[in-house]
Amino acid sequence: MDTIGSVGLQPRERASNCPQEGMPRPPDSLELVQKCLQQFQVTKTQLQQIQASLLCSMEQALKGHHSPAPSVRMLPTYVGSTPHGTEQGDFLVLELGATGASLRVLWVTLTGTKEHSVEPKSQEFEIPQEVTLGTGQQLFDFAARCLSEFLDAHPTENQDLKLGFNFSFPCHQTGLDRSILISWTKGFRCSGVEGQDVVQLLREAIQRQGTYNIDVVAMVNDTVGTMMGCELGTRPCEVGLIVDTGTNACYMEEARHVAALDEDRGRSCVSIEWGSFYDAKALGPVLTTFDQALDHDSLTPGAQRFEKMIGGLYLGELVRLVLVHLTQHGVLFGGCSSPALLSQGSILLEHVAEIEDPATGTAHAHTILQHLGLSPQASDAEMVKHVCAAVCTRAAQLCAAALAAVLSRLQHSREQQTLHVAVATGGRVFERHPRFHRTLKEVVTLLVPECDVSFIPSVDGGGRGVAMVTAVAARLAAHRHVLEETLAPFQLDLEQLTVVQAQMREAMARGLRGEASSLRMLPTYVRATPDGSERGDFLALDLGGTNFRVLLVRVAEGSVQITNQVYSIPECVAQGSGQQLFDHIVDCIVHFQQKQGLSGQSLPLGFTFSFPCKQLGLDQGILLNWTKGFNASGCEGQDVVYLLREAIRRRQAVELNVVAIVNDTVGTMMSCGYDDPRCEIGLIVGTGTNACYMEELRNVAGVAGDEGHMCINMEWGAFGDDGSLGMLSTCFDASVDQASINPGKQRFEKMISGMYLGEIVRHILLHLTSLGVLFRGQKTQCLQTRDIFKTKFLSEIESDSLALRQVRAILEDLGLTLTSDDALMVLEVCQAVSRRAAQLCGAGVAAVAEKMRDNRGLRELSVSVGVDGTLYKLHPHFSRLVSATVQKLAPHCTVTFLQSEDGSGKGAALVTAVACRLAQTAMADGLSKNDAITPD
Ligand code: BG6
Ligand code: GLC
Ligand code: GLC
Repeated sequence: MDTIGSVGLQPRERASNCPQEGMPRPPDSLELVQKCLQQFQVTKTQLQQIQASLLCSMEQALKGHHSPAPSVRMLPTYVGSTPHGTEQGDFLVLELGATGASLRVLWVTLTGTKEHSVEPKSQEFEIPQEVTLGTGQQLFDFAARCLSEFLDAHPTENQDLKLGFNFSFPCHQTGLDRSILISWTKGFRCSGVEGQDVVQLLREAIQRQGTYNIDVVAMVNDTVGTMMGCELGTRPCEVGLIVDTGTNACYMEEARHVAALDEDRGRSCVSIEWGSFYDAKALGPVLTTFDQALDHDSLTPGAQRFEKMIGGLYLGELVRLVLVHLTQHGVLFGGCSSPALLSQGSILLEHVAEIEDPATGTAHAHTILQHLGLSPQASDAEMVKHVCAAVCTRAAQLCAAALAAVLSRLQHSREQQTLHVAVATGGRVFERHPRFHRTLKEVVTLLVPECDVSFIPSVDGGGRGVAMVTAVAARLAAHRHVLEETLAPFQLDLEQLTVVQAQMREAMARGLRGEASSLRMLPTYVRATPDGSERGDFLALDLGGTNFRVLLVRVAEGSVQITNQVYSIPECVAQGSGQQLFDHIVDCIVHFQQKQGLSGQSLPLGFTFSFPCKQLGLDQGILLNWTKGFNASGCEGQDVVYLLREAIRRRQAVELNVVAIVNDTVGTMMSCGYDDPRCEIGLIVGTGTNACYMEELRNVAGVAGDEGHMCINMEWGAFGDDGSLGMLSTCFDASVDQASINPGKQRFEKMISGMYLGEIVRHILLHLTSLGVLFRGQKTQCLQTRDIFKTKFLSEIESDSLALRQVRAILEDLGLTLTSDDALMVLEVCQAVSRRAAQLCGAGVAAVAEKMRDNRGLRELSVSVGVDGTLYKLHPHFSRLVSATVQKLAPHCTVTFLQSEDGSGKGAALVTAVACRLAQTAMADGLSKNDAITPD
């Protein structure tokens, strides 16, 4: 038989110890005792089975596969690294649940150096049973009272009290300070706490108590506190093991193996909660009738079966049950029991420890048994010692099997032949039962001989470790506070958005009247949206968005066919001379014509030119100023159509008939209007942002006539250039503006569009880095490079389908090294910036829709908006936020957003088609063509 560390009674010993006086023992008493204690013997094979089964249970739980049978839980603890030892500060620690029904308050000072350490101050409070089994509120109020009492007794100057909550029960943590109790274990059963965040409950109780201002910053399991408080030795301490009232362990797992975490890097401390392990096949054979009885009469029948064989809360009870059994069979105390022996909980862990003491055990046994109202013989005391040894040895062996499982897991995940590891141990069973510790070590060596393990006892019950985690949590909370303060100006409320909407309305009205306004409200000479009767083949140019395109648009009955080619406009051309730019454009057209076999044909051409132009007619547009990334010299104040025609003339070989110049907003509205006649607004949210809409001609100063409508290019990107957006502008907006090629201009656009959002984010990241909140305070060269943070990153980072680790990968491509906390913060920065952009854009659309409703004297307006632009189309939440804002700010308008699929070139071709037809009609009727541009 492969029994190990057997403490079974040896017949010789027993014979010599048998009492002769008093009531004679039954003749088969020896056999009975042997049989009884044999139940507590565990073979090596059984321990190996338990080790294997527990390992399997751990691996399943790590993968997130939860078996219906009770198993270990593998709970992430949000502790990502073992301590650096540099943590500093004073911390309060509240310990609840580790040691019986007592609560401990500690004041821990971390000095940041190993050499100089300060002894913690502590005070213990007994929790009355009516509290451990009462309501949650009673329990937490009790804890808050103890804290006050402690602080009264240990006055401190420190106003900024930070508390680490050492709460030793299974919790689902979603952060260091968010922790939901899964279920009570051990002797606690307070109502209304399971399923609740215990950090919050403690905070509320402290507030109710009202005497001290204490900030609860972290919740830590006792195993984690023990591991983190471990003195730094030569090898890493990566396992924390507790055997106190209950038992459990934690260890550092590779984060990528923890399915519950969204992390592929580094390590994370996992609390195994092995007390709940149960596997009928592995554990069944070692369960005794006493274990069954103990479980049956416990507070939690069926639960924590493994813990009930090891934890200090149960060892005394197991001993008691065996003694009752033996007494009832006449083997002990002359068959005479006592009421105390028959009462649950009358033998405690302390008693067992005392009885186990090699030197004084026998004397203690006598005293303890007498206190229980028994009259022990010398042989009774010896027998009781054997019972205690049997129960405790088994506990140590089972604990060793579980620890062996953790060590093999570590060895496997580290892919190491020999694992050198330190295990921090804590709890009264370790401290008071030297034999427990010895047996545990022996059995671990037997089960995992390839692991080189050293055991390090915890110094102050894990309090220092909890303080260390609290220090880290406090730092993170301070960082979060800075982040929230930084992002607060980006969070616009409804009131602020209503003001923006009202200011926009005001600026629109002034602009239309020809008065000073940041909105130019430029007439476009487009008087109606398409009606479907447009026909013909057209060339179109599309300049000013991300891509420069040349298109061939074939408008036939029921279909529009588009062939297009994208050409690049190098920055040196966009910001060179006007002549260079227009020559380049004509070169591209020539290339396109050749490729399409159109050389020599003079097709009518519509020019989408996405910059502010004062139009005097459909084919005349004076560039007022460049926007976005363009700055070609000699163009501002010139007719762009003329500049294009001049370039064509210079190229001699081509003949082109430029018929219309169209802003991209107008092209987009016309393009979408071809399919939906209600489309009377055009919106662009791409490199730049702008909108156009159909205004009553009577409201448009400077264009003759009062009847009908005209499309107005608002040039809303310039909204606020008169300083009216000052109250919303942050220092980051100011930095982006200052560094741009047009400082002070396009202030609304610079808060919304794709060309600038990435830059705003970059400036915020730089600021947070300089405060040490991000990237460990390291300002990399990359982060200081202008335009490095593209707006497309916002769209990618904010995508719901991306895990945080993918967010990190995107940022790492930029040469940034970041933790998952950094990644989360960057995500929040992106969200704040893009959300504000979408809301401002929504306020603008709401102003336009409301104006149209007023113009038409309608109670309700139903209108569609044709939209284009990469930010709008690619960002995962932008469109939804725009629409939600419009709904709130313009409740009497039903606004439908239509994404333009064909770009604005199709719209430009449609405007050209109408212009051509009308030009022919006008010539026939002797009218000026610019006066009569309507589609019918
Ligand atoms: C395109 C239109 O689809 O979108 C352009 O054809 C427009 O006319 C552009 O300027 C706007 O988006 P972006 O993101 O390319 O600036
Ligand atoms: C119980 C608790 C666990 C704790 C252990 C030791 O098993 O559920 O969280 O670590 O006791 O105190
Ligand atoms: C800029 C231009 C404007 C254009 C917008 C979207 O704001 O000034 O004309 O519509 O970008 O491309």
